Amino acid sequence: LGQIKTADDQPGLATYDPGFVNTASCRSSVTYIDGEKGILEYRGYPIEQLAENSTFLEVAYLLIYGELPSKEQYDKWVHEITYHTYVHENVKSFMQGFRYDAHPMGMLMASTGALSTFYPEASNIADPDNRHIQIVRMIAKMPTLGAWAFRHAQGKPYIYPDNELNYTENFLSMLFKMSEHRYEADPRLARALDVLFILHADHEQNCSTNAVRSVGSSQVDPYSAVGAGIGALFGPLHGGANEAVLRMLRRIGSKDNIPDFIAGVKDGNERLMGFGHRVYKNYDPRAKIIKKACDDVFEVTGVNPLLEIAQELEKIALEDEYFVKRKLYPNVDFYSGLIYEAFQFPPEMFTVLFAIGRTPGWLAQWQELIGDKDQKIARPKQIYTGDRGLTFTPREERW
Ligand code: ACO
Repeated sequence: LGQIKTADDQPGLATYDPGFVNTASCRSSVTYIDGEKGILEYRGYPIEQLAENSTFLEVAYLLIYGELPSKEQYDKWVHEITYHTYVHENVKSFMQGFRYDAHPMGMLMASTGALSTFYPEASNIADPDNRHIQIVRMIAKMPTLGAWAFRHAQGKPYIYPDNELNYTENFLSMLFKMSEHRYEADPRLARALDVLFILHADHEQNCSTNAVRSVGSSQVDPYSAVGAGIGALFGPLHGGANEAVLRMLRRIGSKDNIPDFIAGVKDGNERLMGFGHRVYKNYDPRAKIIKKACDDVFEVTGVNPLLEIAQELEKIALEDEYFVKRKLYPNVDFYSGLIYEAFQFPPEMFTVLFAIGRTPGWLAQWQELIGDKDQKIARPKQIYTGDRGLTFTPREERW
């Protein structure tokens, strides 16, 4: 807390809350979380029901427009998104200019931002029809950009969208197609990826969503705002934990080594990655769904040997007083890396998958921000701790 304002040159009372731990930055009706009870709802619908019965594109519509679509609305929505999966050839050339070992998240961030130059009309954010078309474009093109970033790192030619396929099948085709023939993904894998996208579609005011809202509050176009969100997601504290889980499981190596590993965690030597969450003090509802999805995926790909270690680790931790007392449960990242690895994604791609899934959430929050008349440009206060009123000494006198 600052001091009470007693004179014009004093800051007065202000909250000092780095990281907005206890400060609401907006009002939102998109996503509800109750971390104590392990509840996650999009527009009031429990995540479990959406993951079981819905599709990623239907969930995207729900998040952005606030209601489940009618049949006509859904068909039109899917048709529009399918129609916009191609990107301008110059975007392809732009992406081909990256170094051979460019990180796919850096490529995704830059190419998403670059779309603002191809659609300059996107800056007209006051027009709802214009916003709609930009939203459609972004959801449609994100898998194309993500798949091309993946192919780039592998030194393989970029594959164009196949619009006879559905959203996730098309993405898998652009990632893995190796011949002239149509790439036919196993429907169980395509569905599992669709569910993973649903689980990542929104999570209220997380770091990247806050970045989208903060940048969007300057009324910039949505490509620039989402590009900022991708930058935030790139950071290891946000999108990178599932990779750390895989490294940890590999290091443990066998179920026999778990007791020693747990003892080290309890001694404070390291953390059990994929456990604990700032908001969830119960089982992360997404982790439960992912754990189930593991079975479907491994039925197709064969079991990842690390799964056995993960399951045993979870069992031991959930019965251990250290974890129980601190309310540490598996979070969304505990099992997701295992699935991504089964798809043969390299770890750098994990966050790209997260970004594709999160895109509708970013756009829903952006659209809500634009429509909220009370929202102001994001401009936090600071508590100044530096010098005041110094006298500048010219260089000739200082050096
Ligand atoms: N393993 C062991 N101990 C842990 C863990 C863990 N994974 N997480 C928290 N703790 C302990 C802390 O040591 C602390 O113990 P103490 O009270 O004896 O000092 C207590 O639990 C509280 O921990 P905090 O760090 O204060 O909890 P916070 O809410 O700040 O951290 C976080 C949440 C960062 C997710 C933490 O649980 C963590 O580091 N987990 C591992 C990394 C991870 O899985 N991240 C992914 C999060 S999900 C996502 O971002 C999509």
